[in-house]
Amino acid sequence: MEAPSSLLLLLLLPALGSLRAGGNASETRIIGGREAAPHSRPYMVSLQQAGTHLCGGVLVHPKWLDGKVRRSKTIQPLALPRGRHVVAAGAQCSLAGWGLTQQGGHLARALRELDLRVLDARMCNNSRFWDGNVTPWMLCLQAPAKDQAPCKGDSGGPVVCKGRVAGILSFSSKACTDVFKPPVATAVAPYMPWIRKVLSRHRSPPQA
Ligand SMILES: *[C@@H]1O[C@H](CO)[C@@H](O)[C@H](O)[C@H]1NC(C)=O
Repeated sequence: MEAPSSLLLLLLLPALGSLRAGGNASETRIIGGREAAPHSRPYMVSLQQAGTHLCGGVLVHPKWLDGKVRRSKTIQPLALPRGRHVVAAGAQCSLAGWGLTQQGGHLARALRELDLRVLDARMCNNSRFWDGNVTPWMLCLQAPAKDQAPCKGDSGGPVVCKGRVAGILSFSSKACTDVFKPPVATAVAPYMPWIRKVLSRHRSPPQA
């Protein structure tokens, strides 16, 4: 694993919700999305074990890349948030992943993507929805149609809003398209002080 070894910090954020392909209730993949154009998301990472996709990731800084891939146009970091504020409700974002394309189906062969809108956090937190499990450092997301959703294998991937990584997909429900259990991402902006610290302290990938 050359390039993907760079992404410790990206792996830590989703670890808060901890979802990988093939595990429990809270994992995520893309159902009802579209195939991404080749090289349109050069920051995407597929974290693999024994050649099998486990979850997504995102490259946010080139410094930990192997020298050979550093200059590649097909491998580029995604910009980090500017401030510390979580993206507001209503923001239009997108997500990409190699997760399952149908409930109980197979992993995607090619990268797929989906548009998402940020939901009002208080609504998402009420008793009909996530019932108190959404913290102010999370983003609830909604796809344009009821039969679209990220699902198992998509967690860890970046929620991209205005060309920056606003969130890292964390969890959803076992039934990925359950409208009352919308996908939830960890917001990146509040973690910027920690991310900056990690980036400045390490010249090479920290050992996990
Ligand atoms: C959701 O509800 C819980 C429990 O009442 C609360 O601790 C949390 O801060 C709420 N989240 C938001 C985004 O308001």
